[in-house]
Amino acid sequence: MIVCVGAGPGHLDYLTRKGAELVAGADVVAGFDAVVDVVRPLVPGTAQVVTMGYRDQVARLAEVAEQHRAGRRCVVVFMGDIHFSGFQFLERVETACGHRVETVPGISSAQMLASKGRVCFDETTFLTFHRRGDLTPFKTHLRDVLRAGRNAIVIPRPWDFMPRDVATYLLGCGLPPGHRAEVWENLSRAEAEWTGTLAELSERDFSDMSILLLRALTPMLTGLELEGEA
Ligand SMILES: C[S@@+](CC[C@H](N)C(=O)[O-])C[C@H]1O[C@@H](n2cnc3c(N)ncnc32)[C@H](O)[C@@H]1O
Repeated sequence: MIVCVGAGPGHLDYLTRKGAELVAGADVVAGFDAVVDVVRPLVPGTAQVVTMGYRDQVARLAEVAEQHRAGRRCVVVFMGDIHFSGFQFLERVETACGHRVETVPGISSAQMLASKGRVCFDETTFLTFHRRGDLTPFKTHLRDVLRAGRNAIVIPRPWDFMPRDVATYLLGCGLPPGHRAEVWENLSRAEAEWTGTLAELSERDFSDMSILLLRALTPMLTGLELEGEA
């Protein structure tokens, strides 16, 4: 009677057919305002819509859980994919319900960035700082994956660990000031909003709808280089 569905990010084009069917068949559709707005064209006129923000999410989710217990079909929509930077919200849904809840994956902003920036997942580490709690283990992991020669796709944390703070942290760890960085904003364009060095990034401001790409200094071999020579 309750399912969490990844939607977006930012556009209905990136909602799966399964997610669309669930929203269209729901009695209750809930989520953060911006995400509910994405799926609103699919929400039946008879459905109850429960929108929320950071401050009232616990109270609003308690209402949704109540509807779920009453046997109504509830869909909680998540921005992008639930499994990237969505687990704290999922935990809140499950706490409200008192049990584990089914999830339907969505398309992540990281996937959209990978597609636009032509980045191979195999060679890339995905990190989010958009979470409550201590960021230290995530910061050191970012430092280590870049040192290990991998790409990193990074969601910053508004507003205390934004792209400029990420750059400042990495420079403090001894990464080269000339290491290239890209910031993609709203992922609405074919090209990055901004490209430059870590040193330059440490002095730039971006909106909270930004995602950061740090490419490996040396691209990995594809593994096909010697094909045809044997
Ligand atoms: C709480 S995280 C959720 C990420 C989401 N689960 C996903 O898979 O994309 C929200 C952050 O994702 C990033 N983000 C989501 N959609 C985006 C978009 N269309 N363009 C750029 N960044 C985006 C921004 O950094 C935003 O603050």
